[in-house]
This record gives sequence, structure tokens and C-alpha cells, in this order.
Amino acid sequence: MKVHALKSGDTPICNNLFLAPMAGFTDYAFRSVILPLGVGLSFTELTSAKGLYYGGKNNYALLRTDDYEKTAAQIFGNDPYFMRWAVESEYLKNYKIIDINMGCPVPKIVKNGEGSAFLSDIKLAETIVKECVKSGKTITVKIRTGIKYGDDVAAEFAKMAEGAGAKLITIHGRVREAYYSGEPDYNAILRAKNSVKIPVIANGGIFTEADADLMIDKTGADGVMIARGAIANPFIFSEIKGEKITGDVQTIKDFAIKHLRKEAGISGSQRAAVEFRKFITYYFKSVENSKAKRAELMLSDSAEKTEELLNKYL
Ligand SMILES: Cc1cc2nc3c(=O)[nH]c(=O)nc-3n(C[C@H](O)[C@H](O)[C@H](O)COP(=O)(O)O)c2cc1C
Repeated sequence: MKVHALKSGDTPICNNLFLAPMAGFTDYAFRSVILPLGVGLSFTELTSAKGLYYGGKNNYALLRTDDYEKTAAQIFGNDPYFMRWAVESEYLKNYKIIDINMGCPVPKIVKNGEGSAFLSDIKLAETIVKECVKSGKTITVKIRTGIKYGDDVAAEFAKMAEGAGAKLITIHGRVREAYYSGEPDYNAILRAKNSVKIPVIANGGIFTEADADLMIDKTGADGVMIARGAIANPFIFSEIKGEKITGDVQTIKDFAIKHLRKEAGISGSQRAAVEFRKFITYYFKSVENSKAKRAELMLSDSAEKTEELLNKYL
């Protein structure tokens, strides 16, 4: 695919390869180490607008970054007042782009009328986008293609978002019911792309450069967003850019150690070892017969021990 700079309204984005928000994964430590590897824009994990309003320390921690050029804050909520308050709050002051999550499928969120619940309440979605846009900040939206198999609300939603003042839309080409499996609905993204002038970023099922090419060929989207594929291979962005770094075992190991050390610097040795457990399966993807090795790493309770095991087994 062609890698190029783009603009979200007046806000420049250095390239059209986006790292997806992933709660529990794309935290400050992970983003810090992956951003230099060719990512154009990353997103914080989804953060509750109401949680920020009521001063939740954990919510604030999710918004930590030292790269406001390449990081957008992602917030969620169903109340226009809290959403606008969050956008205008001190917490988001340095962020140039604020993304509204309208695609999260998690039951706890959907039951509250948040995340993908908006896909069946386009009126409220419009009110929220308009209210956030009044802040004068660059507002973007991330959606899915619908709630149930067979749904396709992407084009209608994209038109609404553009009309309401959003400056970019990301479409995860799956319905809520599909969660994270199945082929993305390329046609739904294509129809949305053809309905608006704002940039459309396509997301879903991109694990290789060829997947990214296919996504762009089939949808005509302005860029791609990569989620799980970036954890499995953090070098996917530089590979798509045609740079020489590739995700072989050695480079994955170096990356994993950098990531672990960053996490330890932020959260301390023990917490880092625990946080790191989530990534082990991904980092050992190309290691044969790794079950026992991974099990040993899962028991590590210090960053030092984890690093020793990474050096031994990767
Ligand atoms: C563990 C996990 C956490 C996620 N958290 C978020 C989130 O906080 N905000 C969001 O918009 N999407 C979230 N997503 C969805 C991804 O951003 C992405 O849309 C989805 O995984 C499809 O992309 P993929 O096929 O490349 O993984 C999450 C996905 C996963 C697997």
C-alpha cells in the first residue's frame, strides 16, 4: 500500500499507518517503544469521560504519553455533557486529536449505551459528536459496521460523523456480534469511503503487509489501523513502509526487552513482570515448542527474572 502523510482537519498526521487502541495492551510503555517503528498515529486505551470527571486516578493514568504528535486520546461515554467536559478538560489539554469510541463490543459498556451501542442510536451519536466538536478540538470517531451480522451502518454513520464535524473516521469492518473474528466487511468500508470526504481508515484482520494491501485495494481507504497484528509483530509498520527492519526472532526479542524495561521504569519491577505476561504468547509466536518456556515466564514475578528468561528462550 502507498504510505503517505494525511490530515485530520488541520491536524497533520505523519503517515497513514495507525496503531489501534487496545485496552490492556497499548499502554504508555507499549506505545513508547512501538511509535518509533513507523507508526503514524496511535491511540490511548479507551478512557471513560465520566471517570475523568469524577477524578478516577486510573482513568488519568491511561492518558499518559510523551508524544502528542503521534498519539490521540480515545474517550467513551454516552452523555454529551461529560463527553464535552472531558474533551475540554486539563487531562486532554495537550492532545491534538480526540477520538470517540463508538465501536466497543464489551457487554458492560454496551449495556450503558456506550461503545457499539451508538451503532443503533445514530441520533445520540450525532449529538455527542457535535457537542465535542464545539470544543474546537479535532474530533475523530471509531466505529464498527453494525451490531448484528448482515448490518451495514458504516456509510450512514460516516456521513453523520462528517456532517457533525468529525475530521476522520476509523471503521473496524466487523459487526459487534463478530467481536474480533471473521473476514472484515470490505464492501461496507468501501461504501463509507465513497460517501464522505474526510479520511477513512480501515481496520480489521491486518496481520501482514499483504493484508494491508488487500484492505486498501478493496476499500479505497486512506489508511489502515492495525491492532492484534501489531502485538504479534511490532515491526509490521516498518515492513509496510518498506524499511529494512523485519520482525525475526532477534528483533522481536530486542523489542520485547525494550518494552519490558520501559514498563519496569513506569510501574516497577513486579508490576512490569505481571503486565508483560499478556504479551508472552505474541512474542513467542514464531518459537517452536514454546509451551513450557512460556509457562515459566508466566510465573516470573520480577522484570529481572523475565528478562533473564527472554534472553534464554528467544
Ligand atoms: C484486547 C483488545 C482491546 C481493545 N481495546 C480497544 C479500545 O480500547 N478501543 C477501541 O476502539 N478498540 C479496541 N479494540 C479493538 C481494536 O482497536 C480493533 O478495532 C480490533 O481489534 C480489530 O483490529 P484487528 O483485527 O487488527 O485486531 C480492542 C481489541 C482488542 C483485541
